[in-house]
Amino acid sequence: GSPAWEQERKRFENGWHGRLTVSDVSRRAVPAVDPDATPVFANQPDADWTQAASRTALRDAIAAWKQDPLPPVPDLNATLDTARAAQPGWESAGAKHRGEILRAAARVMAGDRYRTLACLRLEGKKAPAEADAEVSEAIDFARYYAATFVVPTGLQARALGTVVVASPWNFPYAIPSGGVLAALAAGNSVVFKPAPETAGIAWLIAQQLWQAGVPRDVLQFFPCADGEIGRALMTDPRVNAVVLTGSSETARMFQGWRPSLRLYAETSGKNALVITAQADRELAIKDLVKSAFGHSGQKCSAASLAIVQAEVYDDPVFRRQLQDAAASMVVAPSTDPRGVVTPLVQEPRDALRRALTLLDEGEEWLLQPRQVGADPCQWSPGIRLGVKPGSWFHQTECFGPVLGLMRAESLEEAVEWQNGTAFGLTAGLHSLDPAEQAWWADRVQAGNLYINRPITGAIVQRQPFGGWKKSCVGPGAKAGGPNYVLSFIRLEDAGEVS
Ligand code: SER
Repeated sequence: GSPAWEQERKRFENGWHGRLTVSDVSRRAVPAVDPDATPVFANQPDADWTQAASRTALRDAIAAWKQDPLPPVPDLNATLDTARAAQPGWESAGAKHRGEILRAAARVMAGDRYRTLACLRLEGKKAPAEADAEVSEAIDFARYYAATFVVPTGLQARALGTVVVASPWNFPYAIPSGGVLAALAAGNSVVFKPAPETAGIAWLIAQQLWQAGVPRDVLQFFPCADGEIGRALMTDPRVNAVVLTGSSETARMFQGWRPSLRLYAETSGKNALVITAQADRELAIKDLVKSAFGHSGQKCSAASLAIVQAEVYDDPVFRRQLQDAAASMVVAPSTDPRGVVTPLVQEPRDALRRALTLLDEGEEWLLQPRQVGADPCQWSPGIRLGVKPGSWFHQTECFGPVLGLMRAESLEEAVEWQNGTAFGLTAGLHSLDPAEQAWWADRVQAGNLYINRPITGAIVQRQPFGGWKKSCVGPGAKAGGPNYVLSFIRLEDAGEVS
């Protein structure tokens, strides 16, 4: 390698994992500072499982958990009228007051951690580590949005009005909490419409925020089905904006219903991790299987493709190690504390069914996915070899535990294929060569770029999250970034009619 690369390698051996990986220093169980006491934002640590008290608290919460009956769906007219009537009072209470309530929300969420974890495990079908990270992220959103809502001087910022937040079932706690908290921080009232699959978790969020002091009229819980009432909600002129995390199809459907809708949507992805000949192969494999099979691949950010430089792709040792790494992930229900690859939230159909069961010409299984036990949702990881540029698997989001490998001659070719989909959410590179890193970072078209770390698990403030191309609808301010709350205001003199 070049002298620069040798130098990089030394730094790597000393524990320095590349330009952007400093951001991967994971949350620590024992924080350097008390995130609640410091005036500067600090990330919430995950639960400390070395403490017997944490383990007992979780065990008790899991034993006590039951599917709470949800409140009946309120009347749509009354919900929207109330939300509209309550909004001016919330806005005029001031940003400082709302910031205090957001900080109180962080405390309530932290105090209720084990109950939330139990719900995420049992209703959300999340593995322990995945559930833990979601709770920390939601708490981060509360503190971070409280700290970052600063109205630019000399400008009159006004709230949008009433914002609908439609939540996804794959991150049922962190993502809707983020949308709801940001909209509230900016002075809007919120109608929170949960994904039907995880409505219990959403109900927990609503209760936690009310407990923290968000007025019930300002935050309305609206657990309707995705049919007629959902459509009536999205198209009602009393709704000033909709925050959606879901598929590109759903976003398009909303826009079709109401072309003038102010829609902020974070949608689908077809994300690839490039592994070059200059990569640390074992580290790349570890990060790849985490990115591909964490939460059984049901993340918009998940790695669905690995584009591997020929020299690595053709190496039988690399293949065997990758196969072993994926095959040794524990496939188990989310009630099992050892579970890593937990059951799918929905039974596989359409693209995912095809990805799990059929190969295209020239493709073969490095690891064939299998349905495990009696649960039709429980699948083991699958890895297909020989995915061709422009093929069905290269282009299609599948949202499940299937990874496809592509063989590239060069980094140039790899980036061309990485960029060669309609989407642009996350993208990864594994290479220890700083010249390759810089070259790649300049060319890759995705909202979130990661070098030498997994491509899922963005951390608030360190990795503001959001896509471009078909992965994003709306102005594209990134969640967990400094401008996110500002996307929920308008300027008084802008003459905006919504
Ligand atoms: N924020 C999540 C991640 O980074 C995806 O929504 O994985």
